[in-house]
Amino acid sequence: MATKLVTVFGATGAQGGSVVQALLRDKSGTFKVRGITRNPTSEAAKALSASGVEVVKADGLNKGELVSAFKGSWAVFANVNSDDPCINQKDGPSETDMGKIIIDAAVEAEVRHFVFSGMASASETTKGAVPNRAFDEKHAIGQYGRSKPFASFVDASPGWYMETFLWRDLAPIFGGWPFNPDEEGHMTFTCPRWGGPNDEVPFTAIAADYGDIVHGILLAPEKYNGRLIQSISQSRSLESVIPDYQTATGKQARFRFMKTWEELETYGVTGLITVQRMFGFCQHSGGLYYGVPNDTAPAAELKAAAAAAQGKTGDDAKLMTLERFFKQHLA
Ligand SMILES: NC(=O)c1ccc[n+]([C@@H]2O[C@H](COP(=O)([O-])OP(=O)(O)OC[C@H]3O[C@@H](n4cnc5c(N)ncnc54)[C@H](OP(=O)(O)O)[C@@H]3O)[C@@H](O)[C@H]2O)c1
Repeated sequence: MATKLVTVFGATGAQGGSVVQALLRDKSGTFKVRGITRNPTSEAAKALSASGVEVVKADGLNKGELVSAFKGSWAVFANVNSDDPCINQKDGPSETDMGKIIIDAAVEAEVRHFVFSGMASASETTKGAVPNRAFDEKHAIGQYGRSKPFASFVDASPGWYMETFLWRDLAPIFGGWPFNPDEEGHMTFTCPRWGGPNDEVPFTAIAADYGDIVHGILLAPEKYNGRLIQSISQSRSLESVIPDYQTATGKQARFRFMKTWEELETYGVTGLITVQRMFGFCQHSGGLYYGVPNDTAPAAELKAAAAAAQGKTGDDAKLMTLERFFKQHLA
């Protein structure tokens, strides 16, 4: 079987890194992996080289560099980081500008298949009531990609990263949980409502599942052409995060809903404004993060395909659950 070169834009990051690792685990020898970074001497880039990835230097705002980096690629995976300071500054290029440059470069380099970390549009979901810049721009980039002559273009859309529960810097906006007790001495996960009948959130374990889901798409890209794949590990109500945590860790904790989504602190930080407005548009739409109800079936199908190609068995071959995630990381 001919080797297929997959080039990953964002290879040193959380999502791209997960895609790289999944493709490296494929036992068939079908895939070769190239990773793009602005800084090949960073620790993350050196680790990629050491694991057998061809690391190339290119900037997402430089089309010429990207065309060279994509040359010879059968497929590209790209994730644009909305919060990188190279975009979304006053009078500078937007996330959409960068996404279009990446897609145009892939077209020029004659890439056949494109998987993008896209989103449903918050503006469309809420009929303009609660826009969300990162979601709306990722949606616009995805629509742009679909208009191009790729053999397939697929959005692999991550939900709320389970990994955010391990980020100590984020704990204060959620009442300190799971690291710091509240003023009454309790561990209290404090969060705005998600919306919908059960406040059911699409959670994604990025390291464990996201790359596998993209790997699954790349095993049969035409089958998923044009779709937005809800890349969900587990669809779970917000309140059930606490019993899952208690079962996994044996530690006590409690849950409290904030009165409004605006109560979530942002400190004026762009990434946190995205999170705050995510609660806003999800509440407004009845919990429709993806513009439609959560559906874990496509992710389960893709995980199974990738797990088979990687020789994974047991729990490793299944989508992550919050309980298992907490057991692995916080017990
Ligand atoms: N947190 C959540 O729950 C959540 C959920 C859904 C979606 N998201 C979205 O996920 C995105 C962040 O993804 P991530 O977590 O994978 O980020 P990350 O870990 O910070 O990685 C960002 C990657 O983008 C690359 N990059 C950034 N600007 C570049 C440029 N100009 N040229 C080339 N490469 C560039 C970086 O490469 P180098 O630095 O090596 O060049 C790095 O590999 C955000 O847009 C966020 O909104 C987050």
